[in-house]
Amino acid sequence: MAHMMSFPSHTCLLIILFGFIGLTSFPVEAAIKKYQFDIQVKNVSRLCHAKPIVTVNGRFPGPTIYVREGDRVQINVTNHVKYNLSIHWHGLKQYRNGWADGPAYITQCPIQTGSSYTYDFNVTGQRGTLWWHAHILWLRATVYGAIVIMPKPGTPFPFPQPAREFEILLGEWWHKDVEEVEKQGNKMGLPPNMSDAHTINGKPGPLFPCSEKHTYAMEVEQGKTYLLRIINAALNDELFFAIAGHNMTVVEVDAVYTKPFNTEAILIAPGQTTNVLVKANKLASRYFMATRTFMDAPIPVDNKTATAIFQYKGIPNTVLPSLPSLPHLPAGNDTVFALSYNKKIRSLNSAQYPANVPLKVDRNLFLTIGLGKNSCPTCINGTRLVASLNNVTFVMPQTALLQAHYFNNKGVFRTDFPDRPSTTFNYTGAPLTANLGTSIGTRVSKVAFNSTVELVLQDTNLLSVESHPFHLHGYNFFVVGTGVGNFDPSKDPAKYNLVDPVERNTVGVPTGGWTAIRFRADNPGVWFFHCHLELHTGWGLKTAFVVEDGPGQDQSVLPPPKDLPAC
Ligand SMILES: *[C@@H]1O[C@H](CO)[C@@H](O)[C@H](O)[C@H]1NC(C)=O
Ligand SMILES: *[C@@H]1O[C@H](CO)[C@@H](O)[C@H](O)[C@H]1NC(C)=O
Ligand SMILES: *[C@@H]1O[C@H](CO)[C@@H](O)[C@H](O)[C@H]1NC(C)=O
Ligand SMILES: *[C@@H]1O[C@H](CO)[C@@H](O)[C@H](O)[C@H]1NC(C)=O
Ligand SMILES: *[C@@H]1O[C@H](CO)[C@@H](O)[C@H](O)[C@H]1NC(C)=O
Ligand SMILES: *[C@@H]1O[C@H](CO)[C@@H](O)[C@H](O)[C@H]1NC(C)=O
Ligand SMILES: *[C@@H]1O[C@H](CO)[C@@H](O)[C@H](O)[C@H]1NC(C)=O
Ligand SMILES: *[C@@H]1O[C@H](CO)[C@@H](O)[C@H](O)[C@H]1NC(C)=O
Ligand SMILES: *[C@@H]1O[C@H](CO)[C@@H](O)[C@H](O)[C@H]1NC(C)=O
Ligand SMILES: *[C@@H]1O[C@H](CO)[C@@H](O)[C@H](O)[C@H]1NC(C)=O
Ligand SMILES: *[C@@H]1O[C@H](CO)[C@@H](O)[C@H](O)[C@H]1NC(C)=O
Ligand SMILES: *[C@@H]1O[C@H](CO)[C@@H](O)[C@H](O)[C@H]1NC(C)=O
Repeated sequence: MAHMMSFPSHTCLLIILFGFIGLTSFPVEAAIKKYQFDIQVKNVSRLCHAKPIVTVNGRFPGPTIYVREGDRVQINVTNHVKYNLSIHWHGLKQYRNGWADGPAYITQCPIQTGSSYTYDFNVTGQRGTLWWHAHILWLRATVYGAIVIMPKPGTPFPFPQPAREFEILLGEWWHKDVEEVEKQGNKMGLPPNMSDAHTINGKPGPLFPCSEKHTYAMEVEQGKTYLLRIINAALNDELFFAIAGHNMTVVEVDAVYTKPFNTEAILIAPGQTTNVLVKANKLASRYFMATRTFMDAPIPVDNKTATAIFQYKGIPNTVLPSLPSLPHLPAGNDTVFALSYNKKIRSLNSAQYPANVPLKVDRNLFLTIGLGKNSCPTCINGTRLVASLNNVTFVMPQTALLQAHYFNNKGVFRTDFPDRPSTTFNYTGAPLTANLGTSIGTRVSKVAFNSTVELVLQDTNLLSVESHPFHLHGYNFFVVGTGVGNFDPSKDPAKYNLVDPVERNTVGVPTGGWTAIRFRADNPGVWFFHCHLELHTGWGLKTAFVVEDGPGQDQSVLPPPKDLPAC
């Protein structure tokens, strides 16, 4: 056991050095930050298996993008692998600039093998932790990294300045080539094999075999406070995360400051980020950090626990983590924790960082989330599992929607996505297992410039209830209400929080429940809206909003960059 717990100390040093350089190398003025992303295959070894994975610059997880609010960023992505590829800068608003957003066939055609594309964007009005990931196939399993946006020079955090910062990227690992896993699932019309491990900064930790070199550790000093930038980069798993013996103070989610609150564990859905402060004020020792899946529906998941080490300076690597050795994580199906944790997250809503919640709604949308089965003669059961919003299973187009919109090419998409389901039923009542067909199409919603939208997402019991993290591109939104069961339009809106609701870009719709979000459609373009469980995205649980241009000079989609990939 002692042998399993040890890891080379230079790993730890390197991580700390890198973090240190990142913190101190910011120029004072806003600047152009240039990055080269070479998409290349690298053979890596985890859990006793070596396999080639797709990486950025041979690194896994990929490099961190460090910028300051106000900076311009230019990232030249060069594709050296056999797959088509595109990268999404998750949570960046990309004002008028969907060309740099990244989802393949939504805002751009993919970067093909041997080609390059430079994502060119400004980081405006945002600061905090976001992340980037591949946005095609299941390549984001290994193609992901952090985005750290520091506040403008001279602007402190609205919480105590930490001694140091660490990025904590949670992920999922498959022994097999993840594209083969996905392909096999699609061929059968069934869910692909679940992951074999979870990871923290690409490493599963000592609870897995052959992991002595594959444990992440962060070194802390007694009495100091640290900022952890936690990112859920997993494909399909909502995760709990905790540190043995140490509580956390949540101060930011999805690059928006929150009212600080104390918690023993956090819940984080794929796509979300959470910044926490941790005080190293316990007996100097080594403590486990751990992450494990939250799933409160009867659906099989990878429930294995990944660990890393929170290590006080001066404690040798041979010391076993202190008791209780694993942190107290909520039970895998702890709905009560999930609901109460999410309820605690509120916008900071200070004079400097106000919550500008739309109070008047121009457009009301009600979308049901459903699983279904469509005919597939070549699939195992003659059917393929699908997913839908308002019974529409989204079909990916052959060319990018944003180009089609900008150049007014007809026939690529239809703007008749239904604002509400065609039939009402007891959405979260008994499981519905008959007549599970869906209607298929590339259908989107057209939204008037600067109108305010309220969108209620309603989970259903079509096949099964399940929690779904929904992500909107191009915007943050306010989570004004949420509940279990069916949304009641006559009673629930009266209970909305319109004062300090959390503002974010990805929200979990509770299992068998609903969530209401609001946003002002002031960013023209075509913006993807989808479940951030890659399994469900692939099954069609997605649509897009076409936000029209405004009348003003600065209110229309920018012209496309010259190097924009073609289909
Ligand atoms: C990856 O590494 C393993 C172990 O070193 C080796 O057996 C395998 O051939 C390598 N694969 C490739 C594609 O290089
Ligand atoms: C992007 O990188 C590729 C590969 O290094 C290079 O050939 C290309 O000129 C670069 N593009 C730009 C705009 O710098
Ligand atoms: C970013 O800001 C610079 C400087 O203000 C401007 O020239 C450029 O057009 C902006 N880019 C985008 C995509 O908005
Ligand atoms: C998925 O799991 C099954 C059962 O363990 C196995 O037979 C199959 O090879 C796996 N598929 C892939 C692509 O790894
Ligand atoms: C962590 O917070 C809980 C309350 O949320 C409290 O009961 C517990 O004592 C705290 N633990 C530590 C180690 O501070
Ligand atoms: C994890 O899932 C497996 C089956 O997928 C199950 O046998 C096991 O009991 C689960 N473990 C926990 C702790 O829930
Ligand atoms: C949660 O899972 C445990 C077993 O891991 C089970 O005993 C318990 O009944 C489950 N709770 C709920 C509410 O389903
Ligand atoms: C497919 O068929 C198998 C075997 O009959 C059955 O166990 C399974 O539940 C079916 N799956 C679906 C999604 O219909
Ligand atoms: C919906 O179904 C649930 C569970 O079966 C039931 O408790 C509830 O009364 C139903 N609601 C309506 C409006 O029929
Ligand atoms: C969904 O659409 C399909 C195909 O049009 C139809 O057969 C099915 O009844 C619809 N289901 C619901 C819940 O509206
Ligand atoms: C959008 O509408 C709001 C409220 O009417 C207004 O204050 C704001 O200036 C408008 N924004 C734009 C970009 O037109
Ligand atoms: C890559 O994308 C292009 C453009 O959409 C498409 O024609 C081609 O078939 C794709 N290649 C692969 C391997 O999917």
